[in-house]
Amino acid sequence: MKKSLLLIGLLSSVSFAQQQKDYTKQVDSLMQLMTIEEKIGQTVQFSGGWDVTGPTVSDVNEDLVKQGQIGSFLNLVTAKATKDIQKLAVEGTRLGIPLLIGYDVIHGYKTIFPINLGLSSSWNPQLVQLTAEKAAEEAAAEGIHWTFSPMVDIARDPRWGRISEGSGEDVYLGKKMAEAYVRGYQGDDLSLPTTIAACMKHYIGYGAALAGRDYNTVDMGDNELRNTYLPPFKAGIDAGARTLMTSFNVINDVPASGNKYTLKDILRDEWGFEGLVVSDYTSINEMIPHGYAADGKDAAQKSFSATLDMDMMGDLYRSYLKELIEEGALSIELLDDSVRRILTLKFELGLFEDPYRYSDLDREAETIYRSDILEAAVEAARQSIVLLQNNKAVLPLKTSNIALIGPLADDQSSIIGDWAAKGDRKGKAISVQEGLSELLQLPNLKAVQGTKIETSDSSGFKAALKAAKKAEAIVMVLGEDSNMSGEAASRSSINLPGNQSDLLAEIRKHNPNKPLVLVLMNGRPLDITAEVKNADAVLEAWFPGTMGGQAIAEIIYGKTNPSAKLAISFPVNVGQVPVFYSNKTTGRPMNPKNPKGDYRSFYQDIPNKPLFSFGYGLSYSKFEYSNVTLDKKVENGVEVLDFSVSVKNTSKIDGYEIVQLYIQDVAASITRPAKELKGFEKVWIKAGEEQTVRFKLTREDLGFWNQGEFKVEAGTFKFNIAPNSDADLTNSFTLE
Ligand code: BGC
Repeated sequence: MKKSLLLIGLLSSVSFAQQQKDYTKQVDSLMQLMTIEEKIGQTVQFSGGWDVTGPTVSDVNEDLVKQGQIGSFLNLVTAKATKDIQKLAVEGTRLGIPLLIGYDVIHGYKTIFPINLGLSSSWNPQLVQLTAEKAAEEAAAEGIHWTFSPMVDIARDPRWGRISEGSGEDVYLGKKMAEAYVRGYQGDDLSLPTTIAACMKHYIGYGAALAGRDYNTVDMGDNELRNTYLPPFKAGIDAGARTLMTSFNVINDVPASGNKYTLKDILRDEWGFEGLVVSDYTSINEMIPHGYAADGKDAAQKSFSATLDMDMMGDLYRSYLKELIEEGALSIELLDDSVRRILTLKFELGLFEDPYRYSDLDREAETIYRSDILEAAVEAARQSIVLLQNNKAVLPLKTSNIALIGPLADDQSSIIGDWAAKGDRKGKAISVQEGLSELLQLPNLKAVQGTKIETSDSSGFKAALKAAKKAEAIVMVLGEDSNMSGEAASRSSINLPGNQSDLLAEIRKHNPNKPLVLVLMNGRPLDITAEVKNADAVLEAWFPGTMGGQAIAEIIYGKTNPSAKLAISFPVNVGQVPVFYSNKTTGRPMNPKNPKGDYRSFYQDIPNKPLFSFGYGLSYSKFEYSNVTLDKKVENGVEVLDFSVSVKNTSKIDGYEIVQLYIQDVAASITRPAKELKGFEKVWIKAGEEQTVRFKLTREDLGFWNQGEFKVEAGTFKFNIAPNSDADLTNSFTLE
């Protein structure tokens, strides 16, 4: 059939089907026309390139596109480049099937939001959803249809560099964030030119890499897999996520990219996931060095039969699927299922209706760095910065006569964090120095670096000490380079790199009584046990993004009241890692009255408790909790546990408080965590006002997985509603 006829046929049925959101007929009729090579082509994804002139596609890949042998590209951006390659696919091939263009839009596209660990520290899913919505708009305008985000891997080991890309240590918070990103990227209608498909990654267990070393092996029991690592994926899928990416790691002896149990049995058969599954970058090929596949053909067979639909960069599906099908090692039905899933997404994105709708030069120019997107970035930064310490209430600062010191004080590059898509590393992000000088109206405010991020050279200390001496207060901006977190960026030490800590100690030594504010930028929890003693106030700013410097300045001077809380525990030192609030109790919990005795579970040299716990963060307001109650009722025939607490702002400053509900299942058929977050609410409470905060749980919310079965068991539960996870669970109830 001639392409034009086919397209007309498809178009007329598409407009009807779009209302239906069921593209079965269109997909089936298209598939009837496809050769086996064209079908296999849909499962192939290659990367675009980049040279001085901008985005490129190699000659080899252009030829493959013309032959209908590539279904998708990653790393190809800009309205122009994506339009050019799309034209080749739509107008230069037999069937004119549009390409799917994917890209890592992780925490913003051009306008960069705080790193994801910072975003989750906002405990504000609506705000996180907004950032994803804005990121989608910018990316879509440049021709991107699909983001490889969100990363929903639970992670508890700060040595692992990719901890920065996720939402932290907790299952419940992780679920809420997963839903927020998916809703933000995809909106209500995937076919709009402003929405893109989300991709939940990395399935599965990637964040549990042994010793925090990236790509390392993962071993965990099925209960741990189902109770801790799978729930954020399930939540994202229930929120409508259309795609999912497998991970690089081995899980329980089988690579995740060829794992029939996790992909076929759980994802497809148990959960009924009908979306596209893509491999990670050559993760299918990596089953050979893993020792799970003998060669490329074997690897292709194993991944494809596990229902992994698309091969990212590995070129194994293109090389071997036909042969494997002809030999009977794979069925044609399996190929049809994968192609159906890929084409369905292309229909859902509206690509058959107008393959160029995303690549719009005018919209690209109007959208990038648009004022409402920048405003969302400031608000996200404001709400993601955690005030960890404020001794003597030095913050907000009362003087503008400050010394601004540190290698990150005037930085415009690291501030946007790792994996910052197309974010500009020069000239765009607002540094702390710019933020402060704008807010204080001090155009001549200069930063003194004092040292570099990673050096032992202390020749710059002198200038920093001189600046500190002249000032009434000191603001130091220290931390990691953004390259120190992210992929393949594991660290065995989680200290401040180089001699930054020495610089801080020197400055403190010579200025013992001056207010000293430490602003930290980093992609992971750091060991700051020594540093907190040398600073009065500590602000954990993560990498706060394009507008970060403005938000930091506003917080330092009280124009913004800090409202974030840690999405991850900060260990006392690296020896305590992994430390997380929802640990099990052990049979010999440490005795608080005799913390280092009685043959209990403790360290001889440090406490069990982290330096700063999950859920912890200060505000300039003070909040008092009282009157924790629980009312059991039946609503619409469903048994509901209705928890409530009164929270009073006893200060003179309006502010947000993040109210948290924790429970413990005291005895069950399997041991359960010492505490589990089961609800949170970020509420704005005016000075002097009191609010009642409610949480409603059903029986289901108290259940867990045991040997592949979801169970809700009767018995006693402890609970409390509190400002952070340190709370003692002093109340209890019984579930009949
Ligand atoms: C990463 C993924 C990413 C992919 C494509 C891989 O190295 O693990 O998270 O989406 O590259 O860029």
